[in-house]
Amino acid sequence: MPPASLLNATCDTETAQPRSKRARADELETHLGQNGRSVKIRWADEDCCTYHAVWLRANCMCHSCHDASQQRLYLPHHVPDNLKLLTASVRGDNFEFTTDDGHTCVHPASRLQEFSYSESSIVSRITHRRKFMTMPVSRVPVMSYDELMEGERGIWKWMNLLQRHGIVTFTGVPDEAHQVARIASRIAPVQPTIYGDTWDVVAKANPENIAYSPLGLVLHMDLLAYESAPGVQLLHCRRFDDGIIGGGSFFSDSFAAAYRLQEKAPHHFEVLTRVHATFHKHNEDQHMVYRRPHIVIDDRGELVAVNWSPPFEGPLQAKEEDVEAYYQAYKAFAKEIEDERHLLRFRMSPNTCTTFLNRRILHARDEYKAVGEQQRVLEGCYILQDDFLNRFRKFSSKYAPDTLWAYY
Ligand SMILES: [Fe+2]
Ligand SMILES: [Zn+2]
Repeated sequence: MPPASLLNATCDTETAQPRSKRARADELETHLGQNGRSVKIRWADEDCCTYHAVWLRANCMCHSCHDASQQRLYLPHHVPDNLKLLTASVRGDNFEFTTDDGHTCVHPASRLQEFSYSESSIVSRITHRRKFMTMPVSRVPVMSYDELMEGERGIWKWMNLLQRHGIVTFTGVPDEAHQVARIASRIAPVQPTIYGDTWDVVAKANPENIAYSPLGLVLHMDLLAYESAPGVQLLHCRRFDDGIIGGGSFFSDSFAAAYRLQEKAPHHFEVLTRVHATFHKHNEDQHMVYRRPHIVIDDRGELVAVNWSPPFEGPLQAKEEDVEAYYQAYKAFAKEIEDERHLLRFRMSPNTCTTFLNRRILHARDEYKAVGEQQRVLEGCYILQDDFLNRFRKFSSKYAPDTLWAYY
């Protein structure tokens, strides 16, 4: 294979194009810079990315640095100080970089592109992630139970719709107990919680949770007192008798609300990223506590999570100077979340199962009145967030490899 051509070029790093164009490694240009402390590679889409010698050495994919299970054998803190690159060349679809500690670092070109950390690559990933989500969700995508059960394509369709819209309803679900767990298990075994593997949402005497009464429920996420709160919630409607007045469900996209708050009132947004709220479940049988901010941003200030569950919040434990600002910001965020113009409302019907991302789509229901034998019965369960994302990435690499890099 001919070596990559070396280029004395400056790179324009401001472009934010999708990074899906692949090219043979030997068609690409490399340029050693900073006295060998880094190399620039110009990809086929013209994006120019810097890779540091220390990064290339620490993440080397050769057989002595990584074993067959992809576990690291050579560790980042073993890299010598001031390591320099001596050469950059191409062998087939791999880049090879020799370093002055006598090693040859091997990197598949596709992997280098996937994990590039140039400004334009990162902006492109963020842009892609935001565009992929339909916000706020204004309709519920519907799928048939049979399509889900048919094969892997059905599972991928469900997960893709969930990741995009945050909510999916299945029709034609058999009226049998534990069907909800059967649906969940297409992705992963259910996440057991203090409520068991599956649970019935039905009005009963002395309820341990307002959900088990006919009272209304405000918009919330479930189980934020867990370190790993459920990623997906499933509600199979077993019964919802016609005569029942009220009991309609409504949903709000917390990510869309957070983006609106960030735009309208960045000072409130900032307070909610910084001050930790207390989420708890404290009663006769349970005492769970987890402190986390309502809005989580990453090291670039990009929104990565929302935590919102007013009925399950314990007393605020914040710095004195933050308390008043926190409650003002809280009110502003609640206003965005509860804005009627952005809510999704519908009445669940028997033989359907509504599934939604518990960490993005807030759920609620209106109070209802049932007389005599009338009943509203839902059976629910959860899928662990980690299980959902693990499966989503595996499916993405199979069915949509060009978008996988957006989910790190
Ligand atoms: Fe809930
Ligand atoms: Zn190596």
